[in-house]
Amino acid sequence: MADHAPAAPADHSAFNGFAFTPENKAKADWHIAKYPAGRQQSAVMPLLDLAQRQVGAQTNTQGWLPVPVIEYVADYLGMPYIRTYEVASFYTMYNLAPVGRFHVQLCGTTPCWIKGSDEVLRACKDLGLAKGATTADGLFTLTEVECLGACVNAPMVQINDDFYEDLTYESTRAILEDLQAGRTPKVGPQVDRQFSAPLGGPTTLKGAA
Ligand code: FES
Repeated sequence: MADHAPAAPADHSAFNGFAFTPENKAKADWHIAKYPAGRQQSAVMPLLDLAQRQVGAQTNTQGWLPVPVIEYVADYLGMPYIRTYEVASFYTMYNLAPVGRFHVQLCGTTPCWIKGSDEVLRACKDLGLAKGATTADGLFTLTEVECLGACVNAPMVQINDDFYEDLTYESTRAILEDLQAGRTPKVGPQVDRQFSAPLGGPTTLKGAA
């Protein structure tokens, strides 16, 4: 669960009567059909993700999981609400409070920290972002998260569904400023490397044997 201020009761009740759109209902049923009869609860994670994305589409944000939405998913799968909530509250990919248009998840775990995540955080702060909060314009929410599995390209952030890697103060700032201005920044490594290959290109197996 992201470390944000709790949502207000009215934020939750605004989603009373939530139901999947026909398109998302078809996707939900597709996920459920992957599991044997009676094991539909195994689809809880993709269904919570679908629900969060639907809330995001309705609010022009990255979405979150208000109580009526979690209850809807629980009912859809025939599982107790508390067990559904346990899943939603365990993983940082689910938001239990509203987030902005761009959800900046900053990795602060050891490899990223050693490689300069403090500088990434400083760039975020200099543009008005604060941990656990959404900017007044509703554009950015900043959350510090644990390792996102891209340590070889540390330090990095995830923004919405994309990773931005090999960051510095300057490149972080440039990415956020691009998003602010409606531009699309380059995803992945922000230095001269392909995925997690060596800087500057391959160093071995460069020619035919
Ligand atoms: S420590 Fe940051 S991605 Fe693993």
